[in-house]
Parts: sequence; structure tokens; C-alpha cells
Amino acid sequence: MSLDQVLETIETDLPAAMDRLMQLLRYPSISTDPAYASACTEAAQWLARDLQSLGADAALRPTPGHPMVVGHIPGDGPHVVFYGHYDVQPVDPLDLWDRDPFDPEVQDTPKGRVIRGRGASDDKGQLMTFIEACRAWKAVHGTLPGRISFFFEGEEESGSPSLVPFMKENADELRADVALICDTGMFGDDTPTIVTRLRGLLGEEVVLKAADKDLHSGMYGGPSQNPVRVLARIIAALHDDAGRVTVPGFYDGVPDLPPEIAAQWAALGFDATQFLGDVGLSVPAGEADKTALEQIWSRPTCEVNGITGGYTGAGFKTVLPAEARAKISFRLVGKQDPHAIRDSFRTMVRNMLPDDVQVEFHPHGASPASQMETDHPLFEAARHALSDEWPNPAAYVGCGGSIPIAGYFKDILDTDAMLIGFGKDDDQIHSPNEKYDVESFRKGIRSWARILDQLSKM
Ligand code: BES
Ligand code: MN
Ligand code: MN
Repeated sequence: MSLDQVLETIETDLPAAMDRLMQLLRYPSISTDPAYASACTEAAQWLARDLQSLGADAALRPTPGHPMVVGHIPGDGPHVVFYGHYDVQPVDPLDLWDRDPFDPEVQDTPKGRVIRGRGASDDKGQLMTFIEACRAWKAVHGTLPGRISFFFEGEEESGSPSLVPFMKENADELRADVALICDTGMFGDDTPTIVTRLRGLLGEEVVLKAADKDLHSGMYGGPSQNPVRVLARIIAALHDDAGRVTVPGFYDGVPDLPPEIAAQWAALGFDATQFLGDVGLSVPAGEADKTALEQIWSRPTCEVNGITGGYTGAGFKTVLPAEARAKISFRLVGKQDPHAIRDSFRTMVRNMLPDDVQVEFHPHGASPASQMETDHPLFEAARHALSDEWPNPAAYVGCGGSIPIAGYFKDILDTDAMLIGFGKDDDQIHSPNEKYDVESFRKGIRSWARILDQLSKM
């Protein structure tokens, strides 16, 4: 009965909830770019005020980088810590956006109404689903069904550099019976989804330098080293012909896929042709002996995220560049050790350098893969709650992306994490024209309300 009242409140309050999300989306909280540091702080302040309006003792908590936002609401029942991130990815290439990424708008599309703007799906829209569910619950009941802690980070999109020390220093405050994370997507439109494994991530920027200035490629080409060519050779050597990564020791700690997980995934009916077809591709390009789903969910990868060097402007310039750069990332699984892989990668690169070429490395995050314990009683309760809201029963799936905190909850706080999100594959996260379906937002809020209801009975 009272759950119905909460769901009704959610429907009535939806326009106001959308308006609150729009306010949050207006802050250009791009964490990787120092030019947006004050926007990050302002987004954090907005969140703290929003939590205060719910009765939380929320405050900004400084870190060497962008602030965390932490707030608690007392309540009878289990202690739940909810995590989300208020930072967003850079917006480039800006000319591919149909509108200002930070002037969000609700748009009608052939596939339904969407909220368009950077962060709409990753992760502002998603984190607001939980806050709004708590707001509706509190409006009906006056309290929450447990002690709820909110924990928002502003550096997730930059590899979470302040997270581990912060969690260690505030362990007693953040440790809970369960952690909830809303930063993942759904497996199809109708299937509510609990992510049970995430890949880890290691980022390395490689800078190669040769001559002490750019040179005329006719005057110097031949006897002079060209760092772009050296970099291309190194990058080409990172994979063998079967698509395996060649960094020595890279596969140490990569487990075989247990047959029961393989069977569970096979039953999901993932259509690789469709998945690739949706983005204009057709043939899986990863490890030759692995399925596309395995390549995303259970296998490690090495990708080049960007290369620069030499003349890239309009027209043509016969230059021999002094410098070349590449941003390279590794997705990790199982027990792969990001630090060992970083060392091995650097050694491999150094061993490939000819005379006159120097290398600099800039580290960008190093987080191991994580796997959730699904025998926590709340998992069954959450599956039940989700299946009540959506057409299909809830599925357990893997996720190719990375959310560093998921593993830290277990390792640092001994708190099991449950990842439930309502994003869609076509949300264009990290891309131009990011959106979040209004239905994802609405049913996301309703889903959390149902999960809170399950909590109230535990
Ligand atoms: N929310 C994503 C993770 C994700 C991606 C979940 C795709 C579900 C589907 C998260 O914000 C993210 O983008 N993580 C980064 C980590 C990084 C920038 C340190 C990632 O996976 O690249
Ligand atoms: Mn995210
Ligand atoms: Mn992201």
C-alpha cells in the first residue's frame, strides 16, 4: 500500500525531479580539464544543497583534487551507502553536438522522450534516480527504511585519484551493510540489469622526443629519427596477429571463464552482429578465439585512445616532428595487477627505443577489475524489486567499462557493492549528444523505490 503511495508521489513529482536534474546538468563539471575546476565545486555544492533539502547533513569534503560530497540520513534498518559521480567527460568534438552540451533540453525522438546533455546518463541522471527515490519515500513515510549515506565523487572520469586515500581516512563513516552504485546500463530495453563484474583500467600516456625542435623533413629526413614513426612501430607491436596483447606477463592473473558463467551469458542471447551493426561495424576484432561478449566482459584489452604528433592542421606541411604522443589504456580482468603491467609496458617501450629517442610516461589511473558477491541477501531482494517494475526478470551481466570504486568498497571497507543502472547502449555516453531516456529516469526512480521497499522489510 505505502509503496503504491511512494510510486504515485514519484509520478506527481516527476516534472520537479526533471527540473532538478536539469539544474545539475548545467554545471560543466569536466574533471579532467583544470579549466573546469570551479564548475566541479559548484556541481558538488548544488548536490550538497539538494541532499540537505532531503534532511541529510551533507557537506563538501576536500581532496587534493575535486571535492567529495558526503551526507547521511539516519533511519531504522540497514546502513546503505549510495555512490555516484558528478563529474563528466570532456565534450569534444563540440561541432558534432546538436546543441550546447551544458544547456540540457528534453527532446522528442522517434524512440521516445530524452534528456539531452553531457552527463545526462553518465552519471548525473543516474545518480539523481536514487536521490529522487529517497525524496519520494521520505515524503510519504517521513523517514527512510535504513541509515542512508550518500557518497558522490568528482573525479571518476579522471581515474579516481583521490578515492583510495579518502575511503581509507573515512572508512568508519562510509562502511555499510551494502553499497549501491547507479552508473551502469541495462541489457536491452526491458531487462533490468545487475552488473556483477567490471573490468579494471590502467592508463598510460607515452611521450617520445627526438630532435630538440621540429625540422624540415627534406633537410633532415633520413638521418634524423622521427618520433611518430617510432611510436607507430611500438603501437603496432602491442598486439599479435591473433589479437592478443604482447606486453610480457600481461595475461598473468586472467582466469578462464567458469562454465556456469559462460552458460548464464549464453542464455542472454547477445547478438554480436546487431551490437556491432548498431555502430556501423560487422566483425569482432578482438582475440580471435573469443566471442564478442567475452571480449567485452571477461577478457583484457589494450587500446589506443589517441595519438598526436607533427602537423595535423589544414593543408600540408613537410615537417619532421620533435615529439609524438599516445594515450594508451588497458582494460583488466581477474587478478591482473595494474602496477605490474604498467612496469612491464614501460620496459617493453624502453626496449624498443632507438638511439636519440627519449620517452616520458604519464600515469592516468590504475584500478584492478572487480567481481561482486551475489550471495548478499539484498541481491535477491533487488532482483525481485526490479522484476516487479520491468517487463523482463532481472539479469546478472558483466560490464566492459570500469568504475574504480566498485572493488574498493570490498577491499577497503569490506562492503559488498551492487551495481544497478538504467542507461541504454545508445545513450552516447562520453560521445557527442549524450542523452538519458525520460523513461530510464522515471523507471529508475521507481526501481529504487521498490528496492527501498525491500530494504524496509529486511
Ligand atoms: N559509467 C562509466 C562506466 C560504464 C561504462 C558503465 C559503460 C557501463 C557502461 C564510467 O563513468 C566510466 O566511464 N568509467 C571510465 C573510467 C575511467 C575514465 C577512469 C571508463 O570505463 O572508461
Ligand atoms: Mn559513470
Ligand atoms: Mn564515464
